[in-house]
Amino acid sequence: MRSDANIAGPMTDPVPGPRTESPGEDVSRETPPPMDDTPIGRAAQLAVEALGRAGEGLPRPEQTRVIVVANQKGGVGKTTTTVNLAASLALHGGRVLVIDLDPQGNASTALGIDHHAEVPSIYDVLVESKPLSEVVQPVPDVEGLFCAPATIDLAGAEIELVSLVARESRLQRAIQSYEQPLDYILIDCPPSLGLLTVNALVAGQEVLIPIQCEYYALEGLGQLLRNVDLVRGHLNPTLHVSTILLTMYDGRTRLASQVADEVRSHFGDEVLRTSIPRSVRISEAPSYGQTVLTYDPGSSGALSYLEAAREIALKGVGVSHDATHAHIGAQSDQSMVEGIQ
Ligand SMILES: Nc1ncnc2c1ncn2[C@@H]1O[C@H](COP(=O)(O)OP(=O)(O)OP(=O)(O)O)[C@@H](O)[C@H]1O
Ligand SMILES: [Mg+2]
Repeated sequence: MRSDANIAGPMTDPVPGPRTESPGEDVSRETPPPMDDTPIGRAAQLAVEALGRAGEGLPRPEQTRVIVVANQKGGVGKTTTTVNLAASLALHGGRVLVIDLDPQGNASTALGIDHHAEVPSIYDVLVESKPLSEVVQPVPDVEGLFCAPATIDLAGAEIELVSLVARESRLQRAIQSYEQPLDYILIDCPPSLGLLTVNALVAGQEVLIPIQCEYYALEGLGQLLRNVDLVRGHLNPTLHVSTILLTMYDGRTRLASQVADEVRSHFGDEVLRTSIPRSVRISEAPSYGQTVLTYDPGSSGALSYLEAAREIALKGVGVSHDATHAHIGAQSDQSMVEGIQ
């Protein structure tokens, strides 16, 4: 399913301006090609057009959309997806907060946010009940993008949370008390299904699962989906898997397209049409404390994240989240959480 696995926007395009097509594909354009008609030149032009369109803005959600980026499998692109989607949504005109919930602090690093041990962090919010507003930092280079960093302290939080009151809903409460207007909150989860991930699932409405287009891609997903069901049933009735994103897609391999087909036949409409290609630029960007959107805006990686963000923004329009906060102060269910851990 090559065509599916590449970038293709929705059929209708309520946002004026040119459409972004698959990177690397030949597309006809209204404007003449750039002076150097190379793949890089074309990509750069696409990026400028995409960013130009971003400046015109996408529809903003009526209420803050809290999206949990989770997959207990390691290295599937959770952090890369969180930071690049967040930057894309901000470039599309949204106000976006990234919550780094992984003790590795990779999302903080990738956003160029200081997160050495003394920096006020999400650990203080979860364990010490510090207001979220006291740890949030603006992300340099990207207007409208903010980050609640993770420090190494967070490694102890899985254990420290166990004995705390309302241990599964501490992040939810912190978010509900945060008064700054936001369009999106993206939560980067660690590669485990412990209490940190449970806190994210209780705090969010939507789960975004990045799936790496590799052998074993679907293995372990059942466990994640069962946990989503458990949290929905006991602690957060609005939670649902809204989005599946195929990452590190290599169109040259049959395996990648087979995995993509399998994921699409299993999940259907939840799978974004845009998949993220394997791209050196994407993997280089974090070492410069940048997202690929600022590091190399013309790259196929940047364009695909911009397009994925656009799909997510458009998909969310018209969806009611009225019931989102209906579950404040939910009683924790001891047996359910034990089942999760
Ligand atoms: N599209 C891509 N192309 C090339 N490399 C990528 C791509 N997406 C992610 N990577 C690289 O793959 C590695 C794993 O990605 P990432 O850290 O986002 O995964 P993760 O799921 O957050 O990992 P963890 O489970 O450890 O938190 C990183 O080195 C990242 O730079
Ligand atoms: Mg990560």
